[in-house]
Amino acid sequence: MKKIISVVGARPNFIKIAPVAKALKKYRKEVKHQICHTGQHFDKRMSEIFFDQLKMPRPDFSLGVSGGSHAEQTARIMLELEKVLAEERPDLVIVPGDVNSTLAAALVASKMGIPIAHVEAGLRSFDKSMPEEINRIVTDVVSDYLFVSEHSGMRNLRDEGMDDSKIHFVGNTMIDSLEANYNLIEECSVTKEMGLKPANYIVATFHRPSNVDNPEALGELIDTLSRLAKERTLVFPVHPRTHKNIERYGLNKNLPKGLIITEPLGYIEFLSLVRYAELVITDSGGIQEETTYMGVQCITVRKNTERPVTIDVGTNHLVGTQMEKVEKTALDILGGITKPGRIPEMWDGKAAKRIAEIIMES
Ligand code: UD1
Ligand code: UDP
Repeated sequence: MKKIISVVGARPNFIKIAPVAKALKKYRKEVKHQICHTGQHFDKRMSEIFFDQLKMPRPDFSLGVSGGSHAEQTARIMLELEKVLAEERPDLVIVPGDVNSTLAAALVASKMGIPIAHVEAGLRSFDKSMPEEINRIVTDVVSDYLFVSEHSGMRNLRDEGMDDSKIHFVGNTMIDSLEANYNLIEECSVTKEMGLKPANYIVATFHRPSNVDNPEALGELIDTLSRLAKERTLVFPVHPRTHKNIERYGLNKNLPKGLIITEPLGYIEFLSLVRYAELVITDSGGIQEETTYMGVQCITVRKNTERPVTIDVGTNHLVGTQMEKVEKTALDILGGITKPGRIPEMWDGKAAKRIAEIIMES
């Protein structure tokens, strides 16, 4: 019997691993798959709700590590995870995405000589000021299976001299989750409950330190969202990092009526809002992909993206961080200047099945 441990910690990790857990269940006579939750995200609405809605098994191991500086968080996860891996001696560790939990798990497993599979390998923003870029590069270097979600990832890994036999173009497990839940998302009553008219409102999410960790940048962002909220109702489910900073900088005053600020939403509710939105404005990685899959216009408030297929093929508009440009592009889109898009290759809901087959064949 093979033993596999998937290590997850942050909101997008849960969504990327749920279909992998499901696909591995088919091989339960040959493989025992366990989940280790580092604790990086811990609020019910950032963690437990995804296990419930995506029908994931509860974590077999919980490390309870959250907060702290990057070094502190990564090091504490490493120390706790080492104990689990030493006890369990898995044949493979699976890590999704690009968060600190991903990096910490990859480092520990590689030092212990345990093979690693990286789900969402090869993405590059080519911007090392992003903590995620360091996490992606290091995780890929120590991984044995590089599971890639879009063509740019294949190119990047080959350009970095990775062994071709490790690289597998499998598609996107975040899209597997979306595809598997699409009926629930379409039928969800959240828009009605919030009194929103389909294709007549905006959804915004922000959590990148470059946008929310200083008072000027976050202040300008809230001002821009407030102006857009006079054109269309704007729903803003607020990430905990952003919430803390809005309070700290006193930016929650004099907000217009059209700006609906909520806690982070459940997976089904959030994606239902996105599905029927006229426009999404974000700095999220995953939401760039989900809007492309659903053909919803998306403005990405960043200088670069590690997911170029959403620009080249999808409905994503990468506009930088100048707020005049964000506002102008938003007004253009609301005025009908939209971008057609297609679903990228292999984003067909079967990525996790391919991953499980590759793991089980080798
Ligand atoms: C992390 C990832 C980022 C990813 C994002 C997804 C890193 C370096 N960053 O950013 O790549 O896009 O998750 O959402 O790994 N907090 C709570 N409750 C929670 C979760 C976080 O209060 O449930 C607080 C933390 O205590 C901390 C802050 O939010 O003060 C930031 O959390 P952290 O996990 O360090 O980084 P994120 O900004 O969430
Ligand atoms: N998401 C959610 N509720 C919200 C906001 C986002 O369920 O209130 C989902 C979203 O649909 C996507 C994932 O969380 O699947 C993206 O996570 P996040 O933006 O935190 O991280 P990133 O993708 O930027 O790493």
